[in-house]
Amino acid sequence: MVKIAILGFGVVGSGTAEVLTENKKIIEERLGCEYSIKYILDLRDFPNSPFANLIVHDFNVILNDPEVAIVAEMMGGSHPAYDFSKACLEAGKSVITSNKEVVSNFGVELCSIAAKNGVRYLFEASVGGGIPVIRPIINDLASNKITRICGILNGTTNYILTKMRDKGASFSDALSEAQKLGYAEANPSADVDGIDAARKIVILAALACGKLISPKAIYTEGISKISLLDTKLAESLGCSIKLIAQAHVSPEGLTAFVSPCMVQKSNPLSRIDDVFNGILIDANMVGEVMFYGPGAGKLPTASAVVADIIDVIAHRDVEPKTIAWDAAADTDLASFEKFCSERVFISSEKLAFPNDIAIISEAAAESVYAYMTESISEELADKIASENKDTVLSVFRKI
Ligand code: HSE
Repeated sequence: MVKIAILGFGVVGSGTAEVLTENKKIIEERLGCEYSIKYILDLRDFPNSPFANLIVHDFNVILNDPEVAIVAEMMGGSHPAYDFSKACLEAGKSVITSNKEVVSNFGVELCSIAAKNGVRYLFEASVGGGIPVIRPIINDLASNKITRICGILNGTTNYILTKMRDKGASFSDALSEAQKLGYAEANPSADVDGIDAARKIVILAALACGKLISPKAIYTEGISKISLLDTKLAESLGCSIKLIAQAHVSPEGLTAFVSPCMVQKSNPLSRIDDVFNGILIDANMVGEVMFYGPGAGKLPTASAVVADIIDVIAHRDVEPKTIAWDAAADTDLASFEKFCSERVFISSEKLAFPNDIAIISEAAAESVYAYMTESISEELADKIASENKDTVLSVFRKI
């Protein structure tokens, strides 16, 4: 009988208890092994919950119980989640997490501690909610070099942008709805400012090339400045605005960034709406593959947490396969200024571009003008925006 402890009984923690209980019979049949939840750590009591008798308030009860083999951390935030995870790994317990903040900031250290202690640190639920993406990258794309990852990695912002575009909803109303549905972070600024997507893209990039970049080191732009008029102009240009996270692995180095983008309707990411996430991966043998599914929410995310729990139990008698990452050095990174993409400039007046820049299409609404240019560098886009700073309202990258 494998004993499991859950750290944090919020949206994902309670979902994990539910999945482990509701599907216990089929999971145990598949594993040929029984399990039980022994403890749930939370500061609060849940007298009306069917799991009320499992609640403990002292982490040391879990840490010092040799029967607990697997700890699923779903507390959110860096501390004490990181400290508790580290202590459990050092105590020889495998740790599963949905906590992208911890994985993206401390993943190098925690994977190494897991390896040294012969246990596992798994984090399928940290990226893409319920979408199986981390294990497929590690296992099923292992014969490939991954060259590019491009995706919608935050469910909350995708929900907000979809409601703005389709229902003309205000940003704040759409955010409140996403919070009510349990999609948003405790501090939703992590969602709307792109920080959550930045954490997720550095995790995926590390899986692609073994180098974990600090999420704070990458260019990160959120969606808070996007207006209903921007969404309308995007439609006129045949695009949808999406918060896109990208990582490019080239001989020059690794580049990762997050920004709202105009996504052309022919791109499958333009059709990923509501809380769904979509991740396109270019790999040198398979070509392009796409992962799609619910990017946030209680049971989808819990499904991914339980997948990791099942993985640990299924492989409990074999030498653990561990993830080895290095922290990315500055020399591993390619210059972002040289990164090129097509652009959409939105301006309160007609804009004159240098003659050598081709304009692909134009649109106008409510005396505001949108120009889609050919592919230009970050440097050049910044120069045009600053030379026209009194009229340029925003600049979007386009994919
Ligand atoms: N707040 C996150 C999102 C939760 O909206 O994508 C899932 O990581």
